[in-house]
Amino acid sequence: MSGHVCDVVVVGAGIIGLTAAWRALEAGASVTVLDPAPGDGATRAAAGMLAPVLEAGFGEAGQARLGTASLALWPGFAARVERAAGLPPGAVGLDTTGTLAVAYDGDDLAGLRRLLVLHRQLGLGSAEIPADEARRREPGVGPRVTGAAWVPGDHQADPRAVHAALTTVVAVRGTLVGRRAAALTWSGGAVVGVVDDAGTAYRAGTVVLATGHAGGDLFPGAATRPVPGTTLRLRADADHAPGVVVRGTVQGRPVYAVPRAPRVDGSREVVVGATSDERDDDRLTRAGDVFALLRDARALLPGLDDAVLLETTTRARPGTPDNAPYLGWAADGLYLAAGHHRNGILLTPLTAAAVDHALGVAPPGPDAAAAVAAAARYADPHRFAQLDQGGTA
Ligand code: GLY
Repeated sequence: MSGHVCDVVVVGAGIIGLTAAWRALEAGASVTVLDPAPGDGATRAAAGMLAPVLEAGFGEAGQARLGTASLALWPGFAARVERAAGLPPGAVGLDTTGTLAVAYDGDDLAGLRRLLVLHRQLGLGSAEIPADEARRREPGVGPRVTGAAWVPGDHQADPRAVHAALTTVVAVRGTLVGRRAAALTWSGGAVVGVVDDAGTAYRAGTVVLATGHAGGDLFPGAATRPVPGTTLRLRADADHAPGVVVRGTVQGRPVYAVPRAPRVDGSREVVVGATSDERDDDRLTRAGDVFALLRDARALLPGLDDAVLLETTTRARPGTPDNAPYLGWAADGLYLAAGHHRNGILLTPLTAAAVDHALGVAPPGPDAAAAVAAAARYADPHRFAQLDQGGTA
């Protein structure tokens, strides 16, 4: 059998896989990354909200801890990726302006207030503001909005820009192979490599699975469920584009609008999302989903009526049983960086810190050490096996 030998093979070249590959390269490893369509999974649909506060759901305290720990690393992560790729500061679109949460009707406002109570319980920063104040912060907010909150700590970055920067870095220093991993190679209870779908073998001391929701085909412990979501990309001119991230509910349905940095003519790309379904991943965009997203987005931001619809994208988020990721050693030679569900972009720097730690690189500073500790506490790949055996996870 023909074969390649390297220190680390990464399976999956989405934002998580390329981040793992970059960290391994920084640790001095030789790295090969396998993916037939880099960045064409959840990364492609992601809006890039860095939102540990408004993504915190009831019963998801652990994820909120992971999210806040990762958010603290985002500025340093963005700067390092930009430097490594030879890009100017700001190239990956990190924007730390904050987020406006808005409620459409009275029931939506009651729901928002319940969330604000949850935020206080979890120690997350958010504050109710009157609808008038919301319109002062974002003049595009529509007249029907009944109430709002300002969330100073929820931000955004551009996932496609981050992915492009990571691709530059990894392509220069590592090897990108456009093939699918077909099987892991085991020896004496340890993973020692991967075989691709053309039969080529890659031997490696470490295999990182960063596979999205298909990882269970390679290793049952990496199995996740697909949670398809649709996002839309619009182009809005200067008079109609929101200037901040706006999230809200419209008669109970969640919707968000994430404006990218303005172009020279003042127009912006605005990402509107997202549906969230528990069904198979067929990547097909439903007409009703596009309709509902636009209907709800324009209820909050009527100016979006004049925007141009550029793209509809449907991809599956990889969901674990508790919707927190798998970050850690799953077997000798096998590291999991998978199952990031709704928060892949937010949790990218935390994943970088966890991979650094796994490869023996000292975390750079207290925030990274805190992220590594949070990953060990809430993202241990063995946590469900412990539960199955009657332990506590
Ligand atoms: N993080 C937002 C989403 O998954 O839609």
